Amino acid sequence: MYKILTLNNISSLGLQRLPREDYEIGSEISQPDGILLRSFKMHDMVIPDSVKAIGRAGAGVNNIPVDQMSSRGVPVFNAPGANANAVKELVLAGLLMASRNINSAMKFASGIEGDDAAISVAVEAGKKNFVGSELPSKTLGVIGLGAIGVRVANAALSLGMKVVGYDPLISVQSAWQLSSGVEKAISLDHLFTQCDAVTVHVPLIDATRGIVSAERLKLMPKGGIIVNLARGGICDDTAVLASLNKGHTSTYVIDFPTAELMKHPKVLAFPHLGASTNEAEENCAVMVADSVRDFLDDGTVVNA
Ligand code: MLT
Repeated sequence: MYKILTLNNISSLGLQRLPREDYEIGSEISQPDGILLRSFKMHDMVIPDSVKAIGRAGAGVNNIPVDQMSSRGVPVFNAPGANANAVKELVLAGLLMASRNINSAMKFASGIEGDDAAISVAVEAGKKNFVGSELPSKTLGVIGLGAIGVRVANAALSLGMKVVGYDPLISVQSAWQLSSGVEKAISLDHLFTQCDAVTVHVPLIDATRGIVSAERLKLMPKGGIIVNLARGGICDDTAVLASLNKGHTSTYVIDFPTAELMKHPKVLAFPHLGASTNEAEENCAVMVADSVRDFLDDGTVVNA
């Protein structure tokens, strides 16, 4: 019998991959063989020596001490691509919200008071104040062409946007999935000079920390949109806020709000919602439960 500790709610479809006759699963299990989690931060946790495998129901693994686990020979499995469609949809929502002023316009509309005549006057004012622009008039820069970035790039193309991508390490599989209409930038700076909107789809590692910097924001045309549904820290928030304040960047769409970002009128902040769909939660849970089960059963390693 294997014991699996769950540190977050894991979709029941995933847990069903671990047959009850062989697996005891719970959030209070001691001496577990495996751990399944989503966003629980494991860095301050004492991880029992009994643990042989960890499964993260998502793409990023920066809430797990991967180096420490590697030195113990414990694989950390993730779920690459399993929530990619969900993230793609929220990127598109962010781009649409930004380019059509949806957040400000809805706040304005919800503040309208009075009788039908007063509402009609306010509606006319709103119509003038919140004129937007259309996506096909924009070029989108996609930084990181893995499972998520490729989907975002293809979806943006299908909406009529021009798309420029950059990834120094694009995988063969991703390259195959990338529509031919996506132009490849020769460098990050090259991408920023061409793009009205930039979205990041890379993990947060030393090489990606702060890649959306003050210098690169200046390379963008005025009125640019920055989207970060990947990880806080990839964009230099101080630089983005300064650019918003100067009116150079028009909107910052972020899934990792901080107190300072939350109060800025040009920031569209989501509460880490990129992967929060029923479908993505099920896909991720199934993928990591399979990986942890197969490793514990016979040592198979997939997605570690
Ligand atoms: C991811 O890394 O894929 C997401 O952070 C998953 C999540 O929202 O838990």
